[in-house]
Amino acid sequence: MQHKTLAILGRQPALGLAELESLYGPEQLRPVGVAALLKTDPADVNGSRLGGCLKLAKVLHIVPTTNWTDIRNYLTKNIHSYLAEHTSEGKVTIGLSAYGFRLNPSEITATTLEIKKTLKRSGRSVRVVPNKETELNTAQVLHNRLTAKRGLELIALADGHQTILAATFFVQDIEAYARRDQARPKRDAKVGMLPPKLAQTLINLANPADETTLLDPFCGTGVLLQEAALMKKRLKLYGSDIEPRMIDYTKTNLDWLSRTHQVDFQYQIEIGDATSHRWRQPVDVVVAEVYLGRPFASLPDSDLLSKAIRESNTIFEAFMKNIAAQLPSGGKIVLAVPAWRLRSGFRHMPALDRLTDMGYNRISFVHATNQELIYHRSDQVVGRELVILEKL
Ligand SMILES: C[S@@+](CC[C@H](N)C(=O)[O-])C[C@H]1O[C@@H](n2cnc3c(N)ncnc32)[C@H](O)[C@@H]1O
Repeated sequence: MQHKTLAILGRQPALGLAELESLYGPEQLRPVGVAALLKTDPADVNGSRLGGCLKLAKVLHIVPTTNWTDIRNYLTKNIHSYLAEHTSEGKVTIGLSAYGFRLNPSEITATTLEIKKTLKRSGRSVRVVPNKETELNTAQVLHNRLTAKRGLELIALADGHQTILAATFFVQDIEAYARRDQARPKRDAKVGMLPPKLAQTLINLANPADETTLLDPFCGTGVLLQEAALMKKRLKLYGSDIEPRMIDYTKTNLDWLSRTHQVDFQYQIEIGDATSHRWRQPVDVVVAEVYLGRPFASLPDSDLLSKAIRESNTIFEAFMKNIAAQLPSGGKIVLAVPAWRLRSGFRHMPALDRLTDMGYNRISFVHATNQELIYHRSDQVVGRELVILEKL
């Protein structure tokens, strides 16, 4: 079966690959540089639920070369049929993104202008989005409305000796993420709020079935439960946290979400120490960002670092033992746990070495290594390692 959908992955492509693999299965997927090809039909891929995909595009054609002059000629020759299929009558805006080519952005803009000239000759009026980089970023695609009826973004992706041409049908709405992140009534920088995109990825890694119960035992301000509610799987949302203030925050934020985003969902939130709490049954899936320990602006001395690691590890290990007895066999647990970046590489949570003894199987992926599944920014000491487990 041929690949039908092209996904442009986020800043850390491995996270997006693991997410797609969890949802669609490894055989549906082929990584190509910063992108992935999917056999899945574009109509069956819901971009707004994918934290790790920046753009989704419908595969149009595979050209058996990566020579840019040939690609340019091919695009110019076929632009009329692409417009007929993807846009409505009238003036259209066109953009072009090239991934995996060694080209100057001005060469891409020159190609788009050449396409414009061809269209103008046949009486079609076109506006072109100039390239600052060889690829248009998500804000450019969004603001120029290139996925709407009067717009078209063409993607050229170098894939070995061939080029995949595709038309973008979805772009990540950075503003919608920012709105629900920053406009939430209760926020708390100290608990290290989870970015909504990463929350989506974590939920997709667990891939909960419709109408099951999803528990976040470290719910904090409720970002995970909020994103789970928006996924519209009629999940029963269940949250707990040791801090009464956080319980209040999560409730307030979920009520706000329900009001402002017209989503209807059931939830229950309670105070509980995750190392000893008994949760109401059934709990089908656990997704959480566990206690990350103290944040560090720069690498601390080794005593301080050891203390921080010990502190997080103690809570984590006790939680893993406590919840093991309360989950069904085969139950999924997806966690973001701290990983500390030292000069020599990442230091992992020590208890991750004892998962099998604690009754868990760590799931690995075909298209991403577990080592790659650490979400981090270059200025952070504490990253978040994504751990996907199955209760034995
Ligand atoms: C990293 S934060 C989670 C943030 C959350 N994902 C959010 O977006 O707001 C960790 C949370 O774990 C809670 N916590 C710390 N120790 C705990 C324990 N033993 N049991 C339950 N919650 C705990 C903290 O109060 C904090 O809200």
